[in-house]
Amino acid sequence: MNLTATRKLKGRITLPGDKSISHRVALIGALASGGSEISNFSTAQDCASTLGCLKQLGVSIQLQDGLLRFAGGEKLTAPREPLDCGNSGSTMRILAGVLAGHNFAAELVGDESLSSRPMRRIIEPLEIMGARIESNDGKPPLKIVGSDRLNPITYQLPVASAQVKSAILFAALFANGRTTVIEKSTSRDHTERLFNGFGVPIATSSDLSITIDGPARFTGGAITIPGDISSAAYFIAAAMLLPNSELTIEAVGLNPTRAAFLTVFRSWGAQITTTDLRSESNEPIGTINVNGGLRLAAREEDRVLSGLMIPSLIDELPLLAVVGTQLRGGIQIRDAEELRLKESDRLQATATNLRAMGANVEEFDDGLAVSGPTQLRGAAIESYGDHRIAMAFSVAALFAEGETEIKNSECVAVSFPEFFELLNSLAER
Ligand code: S3P
Repeated sequence: MNLTATRKLKGRITLPGDKSISHRVALIGALASGGSEISNFSTAQDCASTLGCLKQLGVSIQLQDGLLRFAGGEKLTAPREPLDCGNSGSTMRILAGVLAGHNFAAELVGDESLSSRPMRRIIEPLEIMGARIESNDGKPPLKIVGSDRLNPITYQLPVASAQVKSAILFAALFANGRTTVIEKSTSRDHTERLFNGFGVPIATSSDLSITIDGPARFTGGAITIPGDISSAAYFIAAAMLLPNSELTIEAVGLNPTRAAFLTVFRSWGAQITTTDLRSESNEPIGTINVNGGLRLAAREEDRVLSGLMIPSLIDELPLLAVVGTQLRGGIQIRDAEELRLKESDRLQATATNLRAMGANVEEFDDGLAVSGPTQLRGAAIESYGDHRIAMAFSVAALFAEGETEIKNSECVAVSFPEFFELLNSLAER
């Protein structure tokens, strides 16, 4: 995909359903005792991977008039072929938690990127609970033999990861007794909200522990999935940087464990307001309004992103680094070594591509320092097949001089197939 400078973004949009929530809702629909009806299910390839695996496990899923329907009351059955998780870490890790609670053997496989991602973080707790898991030295493929009588555990998460937390919470549905997961810092809490919404009580406490009593089964129900705030982030960043932009995004998720980047952008001087705030399906949602054109400037402490705030910014950090090149004094990202373990090494990918566009970047083991303000220039961008790198640098292209080529740009479909089409419909050149 080739992109050139854009004057402004203008328009009012809604977005496909949140990817993280969609994965979890699909698993809940498959496990529930009664039927479920899901509106605005994510269009992401990653979520199609989750649905594909569930179909291989014998779940009947119907898509009709934009509604995804689960019959409910079914039991998962042993798959005949390996379950293909594609590029999706959430599919592999959270589904592993579900399979840990089933008395059959299943194999989880992924694409080249997923096959290089760390799985010990789920293997360890799920084995303590009683599943048997073989891996390729801690990486996929995973061969799981589950048990429908798992042991409940109390487990301190060694990494702040919502995927690992969720794997354990789904496994806990099949354990006899109380499972407690203790987080290092708060990660996205969609699993907790959805369990409570679908009839499985989960208690969360201020000491970051999460408790669930097993065995338990979801009831099923109707849900509308909020627009994906992580997809919104790219349009918000572009609109706040391009003068005279006016962008409205309706019915988007505003869960604080996901929307922290809005607070960061505001602290850098961006004009972003939220209106029509309400709760839908146990998640806060609302309308985001962005006006462009401010020169970004911030206090020194607001230009350092580190510590406990990192998990709630995790997927937006490459984009924040791109925007940081436009901020007086630049930004620093620290304590984000987890970024090296995503769909690509996102610290290296971000540093390499920013340098190609003329930015001054220092790379640390756990982060980046980016100078600003810098006029970026168009370049050939290597997406590394990573959707978030492709989209973050598409935003950079809109305020860079000259033309930018995003290589392998079709990878945006992993989370947001409509990205370029929607961007084009908003852009005034
Ligand atoms: C996700 C959690 C995060 C995030 C990923 C989606 C989820 O990963 O980066 O895009 O849906 O739970 P970790 O849990 O590994 O931090």
